[in-house]
Amino acid sequence: MTYLVIHGPNLNMLGQRDQQLYGSDTLAQLDARIAAHAKELGVAVRSFQANSEGAIIDFLQASAKGAAGIIINPGAYGHYSYAIHDALVDTRLPIAEVHLSNVYARESWRQKSVISPIARGVVSGFGWRGYTAALDLLVALAKEKS
Ligand code: DQA
Repeated sequence: MTYLVIHGPNLNMLGQRDQQLYGSDTLAQLDARIAAHAKELGVAVRSFQANSEGAIIDFLQASAKGAAGIIINPGAYGHYSYAIHDALVDTRLPIAEVHLSNVYARESWRQKSVISPIARGVVSGFGWRGYTAALDLLVALAKEKS
């Protein structure tokens, strides 16, 4: 079982962004934590980061077939990208939306997500642990189903 992990715009700058909000991990360190956790769970992960909407959509269209689920931190695109919303719907896969920071404790425009309505659930505010928790949840739900 392979889970896609998608990091949206500006997440390539983790480690240099506001560490109070996003933690001190670089993206490579975050991906290493997710990969190690996936190994413990006996599943595979494929991570991808892009700053552009089109690249995220291209990745979804090319990679969703055969995948077991998607963990996506859409970054700011989550607040307004109907195109990423549509591409996620088209995958027909279970989706976990993750935000490192607690978006509900921030500016009002961050409190709206166009991804949440089509996600199985959302984890926001737990830093890197949000990704491993999301993986735990998607794997547990898949096991329950099989
Ligand atoms: C974020 C929250 C977004 O509002 C922001 O634009 C990001 C990161 C988070 O992980 O907390 O780039 O998705």
